[in-house]
Amino acid sequence: MVVGMQLFIDSANISEIQQVAALGIISGVTTNPSLLAKEDPSTPVEKIIASIHEIVGGHISVEVVSTDTEGMIREAEEILSWLPEATIKIPMTAAGLSAVYELSRREIPTNVTLVFSPTQALAAANAGARYVSIFLGRLDDIGQDGVGVLRQVMEIWDVQGLEAEIIAASIRHPMHIVEAARAGAPIATVPYKVLMQSLKHPLTDAGLEAFLRDAAKWHKQSVTA
Ligand code: E4P
Repeated sequence: MVVGMQLFIDSANISEIQQVAALGIISGVTTNPSLLAKEDPSTPVEKIIASIHEIVGGHISVEVVSTDTEGMIREAEEILSWLPEATIKIPMTAAGLSAVYELSRREIPTNVTLVFSPTQALAAANAGARYVSIFLGRLDDIGQDGVGVLRQVMEIWDVQGLEAEIIAASIRHPMHIVEAARAGAPIATVPYKVLMQSLKHPLTDAGLEAFLRDAAKWHKQSVTA
């Protein structure tokens, strides 16, 4: 089966993840410290992550919060002790690159996050990242062209034959999903609201309403006949 751009959900909310997983359209989940901070503080993070993994089962990115290489590696080891399938999300810093390099030597998958330029993406790939997350929305927020940067990265990946998987991240609206797919991104990680929005079309709603109205006519006739 040919699989197109995969969709991940960018969330740490169990109810959102359950709803979207039931649709069968997602194959992974990305979390970050800000998303986890929105959840019930009395539930330990490892419990939230384990529940998410139980629901979706595929990719799950869990981010470290240390800023030094040793701390990041220690945290990665801890995350993997409670979820061996986790992909370790590492920020795009010099310390982060060293951590990615060491973790890739141990064949531990990493997702380099907060990537805003092609040179950062290249560095992450060279350090051994399995995934590189390009943040579209945050670039747009400061008046830069998020999709343009993603297109440049995808062109470089194509020309150079690079293997790290690009994740289109910081998605703000359905057109970001469309543009990520057009650019050839293999994965887009999308917040719940945007995922649900991307399924809707006013003509679908109006068309269904008309079909149901008409069905009620013949249904009534066939019941009374
Ligand atoms: C990616 O993995 C990040 O969690 C995410 O896409 C950040 O997006 P934001 O800019 O909406 O916070």
